[in-house]
Amino acid sequence: MTPAAPPAGSLLAASALHKAYGPTHALDGAEFSIHPGEVVAIMGPSGSGKSTLLHCLAGIVTPDSGSITYAGRELTTMSDAERSALRRSEFGFVFQFGQLVPELTCVENVALPLRLAGAKRKAAEGAALEWMQRLEVDDLRDKRPGEVSGGQGQRVAVARSLVTGPRVVFADEPTGALDSLNGELVMQLLTEAARSANAAVVLVTHETRVAAYSDREIVVRDGRSRDMERAI
Ligand SMILES: Nc1ncnc2c1ncn2[C@@H]1O[C@H](COP(=O)(O)OP(=O)(O)OP(=O)(O)O)[C@@H](O)[C@H]1O
Ligand SMILES: [Mg+2]
Repeated sequence: MTPAAPPAGSLLAASALHKAYGPTHALDGAEFSIHPGEVVAIMGPSGSGKSTLLHCLAGIVTPDSGSITYAGRELTTMSDAERSALRRSEFGFVFQFGQLVPELTCVENVALPLRLAGAKRKAAEGAALEWMQRLEVDDLRDKRPGEVSGGQGQRVAVARSLVTGPRVVFADEPTGALDSLNGELVMQLLTEAARSANAAVVLVTHETRVAAYSDREIVVRDGRSRDMERAI
């Protein structure tokens, strides 16, 4: 079967995604699309396939069948090297527990993606500090992740996700480990910073309060997705 063409104007789109882990159908015909600069929340109960969908869209997991296109390129047939290069240059990531490198200072953590891409230390840390200012964590530049709060660490992780100028930021439960006040601040700063950089955000959450920061919501149940706006 030929997969449906991606929706007009979409930056990243998936159709008829299937992914099984043994007898578990983590994805069972999921659909997704996002426009440049759009913030889309993926919601749904635990185990419904949200993270699997995010990992497929980001080229981390290869689906068993279905199509994923990014800027007109089919992700599922790319080589691993091509997919890795795409992830490094076009995508940013924020996870539930920050995943900062404990031995590095906060500014070194934010600068890391630029350093890995070959930037000199001074230029990379200069750009990192600009993002840290926007996320209101520039005063933490010389602290190590173990010396900052959960909310501060997530804002550092958001700065790191944006430092390379990605077109898409993937955030899996970015506020899942935070209290509601810090969660709101992280979401406010993440969405403001992403919008100012015209980066799209794929946000996985099961909190309605967090999803309220999105432009659109997609609900995943038993590996199938449903676009709440188109469903109405
Ligand atoms: N690597 C894996 N190996 C085996 N089963 C997996 C793997 N990853 C996911 N699954 C299974 O696939 C289903 C969907 O998992 P997924 O992590 O996508 O759910 P989720 O919606 O993100 O849940 P949560 O809200 O708890 O994070 C679950 O039944 C899960 O146990
Ligand atoms: Mg998950």
